[in-house]
Amino acid sequence: MILVTGGAGFIGSNFVLNWLADPTHGAEPVVNLDLLTYAGNTENLASLRDNERHLFVQGDIRDAALVQKLLQTHRPRAIVHFAAESHVDRSIHGPGEFISTNIHGTYTLLQAAREYWAGLAEQEAKSFRFLHVSTDEVYGSLGPSDSAFTETTPYQPNSPYSASKAASDHLVRAWHHTYGLPVLTTNCSNNYGPFQFPEKLIPLVIANALAGKPLPIYGDGMNVRDWLYVGDHCSAIRAVLSKGHPGEVYNIGGWNEMPNLEIVKTICGLLDAKSPESARAAGGRHESLITFVKDRPGHDRRYAINAEKINRELGWKPSETFTSGIAKTVDWYLANQDWVSRVQSGAYRDWIAQQYGSRSS
Ligand code: NAD
Ligand code: TYD
Repeated sequence: MILVTGGAGFIGSNFVLNWLADPTHGAEPVVNLDLLTYAGNTENLASLRDNERHLFVQGDIRDAALVQKLLQTHRPRAIVHFAAESHVDRSIHGPGEFISTNIHGTYTLLQAAREYWAGLAEQEAKSFRFLHVSTDEVYGSLGPSDSAFTETTPYQPNSPYSASKAASDHLVRAWHHTYGLPVLTTNCSNNYGPFQFPEKLIPLVIANALAGKPLPIYGDGMNVRDWLYVGDHCSAIRAVLSKGHPGEVYNIGGWNEMPNLEIVKTICGLLDAKSPESARAAGGRHESLITFVKDRPGHDRRYAINAEKINRELGWKPSETFTSGIAKTVDWYLANQDWVSRVQSGAYRDWIAQQYGSRSS
């Protein structure tokens, strides 16, 4: 069995659902440890309610006793570590939770994993893996003609979020170098797809467009990100888990760099065709809702991922193009507007008021 942390969040829940649906994993169960912060949602896992291969545990990765107990009781062959505070804008408003969860939480997991791993029989210890899920944001910001990030690009994190993830990556590296813990680290670009919390660009734009609200674009809208469909990120993690070399880092990306404005216009175009009522309410085109707002402080200009290593060494490449992935994503949000309404709780509204309330075009 495997222990997944953060498996009620966006990527984690997609990973658990895909894992349990994939026949190549046979009957291998998942213990899913998630604190259920504002970003965690057991509704994402509703289809697993009667699945005996999924055990959900509400708890904190910073709770050493709980993590030790879960490892001793369930004896996983691997830990796949997603749990984190993940939103850059929130890290700017309140970095404390990012330092605590992303750094101290990863440290707590590493210590518990090390103790558990040291007690395993030789064969089990050899095949044990600690897979740390990280981000391309640790590498910093690229100029327009700089080469894409490789696994050896020096770290230069710029936001409290990326600095906390960079710190956790360094801890993972050190636990391998010093203690020999068989770790794997993945650094992935921006994900999109089902179950993404509508504070991130793509789901926020879809939800606001359908509601006839402004589509906030920071700065000039020309910041560039590489975008990967979440199902492809999950298949990359499965490839790294089964074939990756302990101690190695794998960059994961979609070979799909786009400026934010183009992303937003693409979504508007899809919604014009798929949601004529909200298009009519927006005066014929959702694009009319685009509103330029004050830039994010320290906003990284460009991220780009060179994903050749994972392709060359593990044979992984994305299966969705941006065109196919964004169409699926828009369809999912159209079909799951109740999910969106339910996560837009009081706390969500407070965040939107804090983040966008005072901004003007
Ligand atoms: P998310 O914010 O949607 O989910 C995070 C999950 O972790 C939530 O379910 C939350 O309840 C849980 N969690 C938070 N603190 C916890 C704690 N102390 N103990 C246990 N659980 C806790 O995040 P996401 O977008 O799914 O990202 C998952 C991972 O992937 C993160 O480590 C993130 O850095 C990384 N990542 C994300 C992206 C992206 O585009 N979203 C890209 C690359 C890497
Ligand atoms: P986001 O989804 O927060 O991911 P990240 O900051 O981790 O890349 O943002 C993606 C891009 O979209 C980023 O350049 C910031 C920008 N953005 C906006 O322009 N408006 C918004 O309302 C949000 C949330 C993001």
